[in-house]
Amino acid sequence: MRINKYLAECGFASRRASEKIITDGRVKINGKTVTEFAVSVEEGDFVTVDGKRAEPIHKHIYLMLNKPKGCITTTSDEKGRKTVMDLLGKKFEGKRIFPVGRLDYDTEGLLLLTTDGDLCNRISHPRNEITKTYIAKIENEVSEDELNNIRGGVILDGVKTKHCRVSVLEFDGKITRLEVVISEGRNRQVRRMFETINREVIFLKRVGVGELKLGGLGRGEWRELKPKEIEYLKKV
Ligand code: URA
Repeated sequence: MRINKYLAECGFASRRASEKIITDGRVKINGKTVTEFAVSVEEGDFVTVDGKRAEPIHKHIYLMLNKPKGCITTTSDEKGRKTVMDLLGKKFEGKRIFPVGRLDYDTEGLLLLTTDGDLCNRISHPRNEITKTYIAKIENEVSEDELNNIRGGVILDGVKTKHCRVSVLEFDGKITRLEVVISEGRNRQVRRMFETINREVIFLKRVGVGELKLGGLGRGEWRELKPKEIEYLKKV
């Protein structure tokens, strides 16, 4: 890439203004002053302006998807099953976008996707205990005693789950609708927590990750995160 374009991508100045910075002799590539803007910058070159390192700002992509049930949370599938990437369409083809954490095949709802590996690691790290809010449906009425078991922690794979919040939103005579808030991200955690009390989760939807909410985003639809949402995630 030409040095004037490179500097513009570093956020220093417009391409035109970058040309002046170059002709003024303020730019060095690998320690050598360059005064011609036709010079190219190669991968691995060390570029400075007035002695300060100039690196391109890579604009990361941050998306929220409402994953429908019946698709898998992966970037590709050997068996040719539908993946969450298929729902993004062509706009991001060739971009290294990956999902943040996982929702199982039958679970729907809020899934974050990004090109920002650092952010992805931070959100997924158990130390950060970012909350995940789910709506779960279970047949028949569920008693407070049963829920207290789940709230206090149950053993999954030999390890107790952390305390979590479970509240009954509604019982319509047939089905109990619950809100479940957990701060871990173990494999199929919500479904397996209820299996320990012999209850089957017949519907599961993630509606929140930390302060981010799914809101009115339609099934299978995605949107870019708002600057405020990105700022929030970076502080988690
Ligand atoms: N808990 C589950 O059981 N499944 C998910 O996909 C997420 C949490």
